[in-house]
Amino acid sequence: MKEIKNNLSQKYSKGTIAIHWITALLIIALFPLGKYMSGLEPSEKMGLLKIHAIFGMVVFVLTLVRSYLFFKSKRPDDLKTGSKFNDKLAVWIHNAFYFLLIGISLAGLATMITGGYLDAIKSAKPDLILAKENVVPLKAHGLLATIMMLLLVLHVLGVIKHYVLTKENTLKRMS
Ligand code: HEM
Repeated sequence: MKEIKNNLSQKYSKGTIAIHWITALLIIALFPLGKYMSGLEPSEKMGLLKIHAIFGMVVFVLTLVRSYLFFKSKRPDDLKTGSKFNDKLAVWIHNAFYFLLIGISLAGLATMITGGYLDAIKSAKPDLILAKENVVPLKAHGLLATIMMLLLVLHVLGVIKHYVLTKENTLKRMS
């Protein structure tokens, strides 16, 4: 593999860096929480549901701010990895996170509204939550979240692979 020299002193903006790490932590908590809730009875998940929806909305709003910063603040050059395909894959995965997070959040909101979750929370009546099979946006929510977690694994593996092959710590650009 030929030697790659990326300029690691170029950094993302402070806002983008903060949002990257805050949303990363929230997402890592939200996915297992969502999967765990889906195995509970309505009466058992009212508290967790509120936490999931609030944290999820925080991710949503921060992602909207980050999308704005994407165009507004200066971004480091795209990383060179030594393979044209890999260069493109990294950019594609990065961009996909924005779309997936917005899609997941909108599907989550639609689930809250059409699945009876909001009514259940407002009136403290868990029985108002509809059966899973009848809530179409929940299927989209779960599917998009699963796709995002697979990309998250590739994203982390990409950082590790890049470090192993080039000894370049690309995290410096995001810290
Ligand atoms: C943005 C990051 C989020 C992630 C990674 C995430 C992840 C998940 C996952 C994995 C599930 C389980 C789906 C399944 O049954 O397979 C779930 C369920 C759910 N999520 Fe999210 N979610 C996010 C945001 C949101 C938001 C913003 C809302 C609403 C405002 C929301 C509302 C819900 C609801 C109502 C359920 C159904 C819970 C149940 O009845 O078991 N989520 N979420």
